[in-house]
Amino acid sequence: MKISVVGGGYIGLVSSVCLAEMGHQVELIEIEPVKVASINSGHPTLYEKGLHALLSANIGRHLQATSDYDCIRRSDISMICVGTPPAADGSADLSMVRKASRSIGESLKSSCSYHVVAIKSTVPPGTTSGLVMQEVLRASERSSSDVGFVMNPEFLREGLAIEDFMHPDRIVIGSSDAIAGDFFEAIYDGLKAPRIKTSLIVAEMIKYASNAFLATKISFSNEIGNICKLLGIDVYEVMRGVGLDHRITPHFLNAGAGFGGSCFPKDISALIQIAQNAGEDPVLLRSVMEINDQQPLRMIKLLEKKIGPLKGKKIALIGLAFKNGTDDVRDSRAIQIISALMQREAEIRAFDPMANESMRRIFPGIEYCSGPEEALREADGCLIMTEWPEFETLDHEFDLMNSRVIIEGRRILKCRGAEGICW
Ligand code: UDX
Repeated sequence: MKISVVGGGYIGLVSSVCLAEMGHQVELIEIEPVKVASINSGHPTLYEKGLHALLSANIGRHLQATSDYDCIRRSDISMICVGTPPAADGSADLSMVRKASRSIGESLKSSCSYHVVAIKSTVPPGTTSGLVMQEVLRASERSSSDVGFVMNPEFLREGLAIEDFMHPDRIVIGSSDAIAGDFFEAIYDGLKAPRIKTSLIVAEMIKYASNAFLATKISFSNEIGNICKLLGIDVYEVMRGVGLDHRITPHFLNAGAGFGGSCFPKDISALIQIAQNAGEDPVLLRSVMEINDQQPLRMIKLLEKKIGPLKGKKIALIGLAFKNGTDDVRDSRAIQIISALMQREAEIRAFDPMANESMRRIFPGIEYCSGPEEALREADGCLIMTEWPEFETLDHEFDLMNSRVIIEGRRILKCRGAEGICW
């Protein structure tokens, strides 16, 4: 099929490359000419395992990047993958979705063949049947029998996105009518996974509820972890027993400094807003966020308990990315830690195998090191924030510190003398 993907960010680029690899003819619309040039020369604009190879294999063959919306009218399906960042009140900012919908509509004005507009961005329930349909049909001056609408949420994890796209647990297709749903479903013919075909609004809510549940598992594990710590019990041993229950599964029960990234924090804030606007007080979701916001501060308190006031102390911060396998620091728990250390006028020495430059864009004033040794040299305390596999073997490096005070926010070290945030 001929597919136009709108938005060359994380979801748009990964989806474009995977759809091209599946044999579809894909045109990726990206407004930034620099990104277009980079993608067309086979260089991904973000780090994701396997993406470079897959892009190089498909660019110029099944995939082309452009800034021109004209390709829409030549395609069967357009897929909106633009960002829905948080607005000041925590709700989802839909301005890029609105703009993309309008531009798609304008391009469809000059075509008369059947077309499906699909949303992959995470959007509040009601957005596709409301804002998107209105903008597209108004700008195209066409009717909903000519243009179908689909909501097809993604469940991609950073660092595993290509694997998740090609081997999904399920494919959710919400549609304005059965014709649109069936027409769109054909693009996934090559993928083995259960299909959920439903309404637009149910598909939108499946995305929010899925992320909210995963985040709830994490905050639950952190709360149990905080209790276990006071009782001198190892939460990881506890969760091994809990996770063997097939109704619970062992996934997303790793206690620690909390969840970060470009999805969980923003999606749960948006869902809280959606609930409150609808007249429901989402007590559980508010608690999930509250526990998550408190976790990093527990590490600071633990550190102060061990080495006293942090003013003028050298603190090694090992790990900056919101999780391993990515250079992404969006809503990383390390951000809260850095802010708290700066408030206490500590001297920060930070190191991450991939995310130093990403964090430097947020905190240009702290010291970034080229390796753990440099960060640990003469440090008074150390905080571990990301579970990079290479940190597992750290041990003698901690002897470079003034005092071997190590607080783990992620369970990764094998050496002696480290204390966990909740173990
Ligand atoms: C998440 C969802 O997993 C994915 O389905 C959705 O499409 C986008 O959001 P991602 O943000 O890439 O993916 O990260 P994920 O691997 O889910 O981790 C999110 C955060 O939770 C990270 O900060 C991670 O460190 C933390 N986490 C994860 C835990 O603290 N404990 C766990 O057991 C698992």
